[in-house]
Amino acid sequence: MNLTEQQKTLIQDLQAQEQLCIQKYTEYENLARDRELKTLFGTIRQQEENHYNSLSQLLSGTCPEVGPKESLAEQYNPTPTYVGAYKQEDKDYDKYLCTDTITTEKYVSTAYNDDLFQFGETNIRQLLNDIQTEEQEHAEMIYKYKTVNNMI
Ligand SMILES: [Fe+2]
Ligand SMILES: [Fe+2]
Repeated sequence: MNLTEQQKTLIQDLQAQEQLCIQKYTEYENLARDRELKTLFGTIRQQEENHYNSLSQLLSGTCPEVGPKESLAEQYNPTPTYVGAYKQEDKDYDKYLCTDTITTEKYVSTAYNDDLFQFGETNIRQLLNDIQTEEQEHAEMIYKYKTVNNMI
């Protein structure tokens, strides 16, 4: 598999985004006040690490195969934390973390969608499309968390 210089640059840029996501979710896992949200950020961080590794493999000349897998977002059913007695300050802070991460996911998802059009190989397109779907699912899970906690 031969990538052009332009294609390599695109993949490196996507990888830099993944690195940022890994860093962000690692920090936010520590910063989140609610345990449920910490767990969610930890789960997402693991997928960002997988994305980073898939792109490394692609850069080294092998495209990882995309197999069927279950949707994390579909299964995600968070129990609300911010009902009854809670500190408003904690809820406001966690809401801020959620809004910030959804914004990041929106940006990264768009980047994958744009870059995918620069590749002719079906398997590379499938890989980028698969990652893009997972980015959308990250936003969906965070959105579900916000909804059950009345943060919308
Ligand atoms: Fe990612
Ligand atoms: Fe993501």
